[in-house]
Amino acid sequence: MSRIHDALKRAEQDRSVYKGIGIEEVEVPLAIPAIGPIPVTPAADNARSPAIPPVVPASDPMALDTALAGSPRTTWVPDTQTMLFFGTEEQADGTEQFRTLRSQLYQLREKHSLRKILVASSVPSEGRSFVAANLAQVMARQPGCRALLIDADLRSPHLHLALGTSPSPGLSEYLLGETQEFEIIQRGQMENLFFVASGRPVSGQTEIISNGRLKFLLDRLEPLFDWIIIDSPAAIPVSDAGLIANFCDGVLMVVRSNSTPFDIVRKARQKFNDDRVLGVVLNGISAEIDPKTQHYFSATRPTSGQKDAPE
Ligand SMILES: Nc1ncnc2c1ncn2[C@@H]1O[C@H](COP(=O)(O)OP(=O)(O)OP(=O)(O)O)[C@@H](O)[C@H]1O
Ligand SMILES: [Mg+2]
Repeated sequence: MSRIHDALKRAEQDRSVYKGIGIEEVEVPLAIPAIGPIPVTPAADNARSPAIPPVVPASDPMALDTALAGSPRTTWVPDTQTMLFFGTEEQADGTEQFRTLRSQLYQLREKHSLRKILVASSVPSEGRSFVAANLAQVMARQPGCRALLIDADLRSPHLHLALGTSPSPGLSEYLLGETQEFEIIQRGQMENLFFVASGRPVSGQTEIISNGRLKFLLDRLEPLFDWIIIDSPAAIPVSDAGLIANFCDGVLMVVRSNSTPFDIVRKARQKFNDDRVLGVVLNGISAEIDPKTQHYFSATRPTSGQKDAPE
């Protein structure tokens, strides 16, 4: 049985209670129990030429960099209860688990090309947006490391609310050809954290996501960022996440502890190529660390070769 299978099974068996919103109520909100292989060949996609030509030629990295510097500065009012790295407390509950996740991703990156990560889950409310946002933050906390967070959940976008900023102009406007890439990249008060909000509400989300412009955008922006973290709709009800995964280097599966049935998680996992799933984030585990959980962490925490720059 694979380690990811074990991890998913454990998520179902975890009988601890999820304590709700608020970092003071969740002492150990995450676990990264298993990391699987990463694809070595990009999946085929149905990209077609975008309707609007880019303002800055992709062949000129300096010009791209300058354009990025000109992206709009916005004032964010983050919800510091769930946007863990915006608070005043350096070691807020939950932050350490995100540092561990970061270390594991850096370890993976030593062996495989890994920059664009889709955060997915089976059903709504498992914590995809929470994990995506905090992962992007912990990446951006490293000196000189640029992280881009993209809200590609065009159905139930929440990231702009969590960050306390405007949803528009954002991804939907770009995908509809109404705006250019650097007009949708927001910069707030956290140095090196950039954000593309969902944009205005649209219908036909699946068609828009797969019209070729999302892949084009990611290809354009990839050279400018160390990490691109993408939030997505739940994978079981709609096909958006499966489509977006084709443009990414890997998928992190979020599983809500003591909530999501194993069969549902397994079904969601089948929406992604086996070689694309990086691992599982077990979200919302109880504050009381039982011996099983303790062992779990120590068995998977990286011990050496960490490429994790100090904050
Ligand atoms: N580990 C956690 N600790 C504290 N709060 C959490 C945790 N995980 C999620 N939450 C909170 O639970 C709620 C649901 O999480 P989130 O919005 O991230 O889920 P989602 O999977 O993105 O949901 P949706 O399907 O609506 O997009 C949010 O208010 C979020 O802040
Ligand atoms: Mg969400």
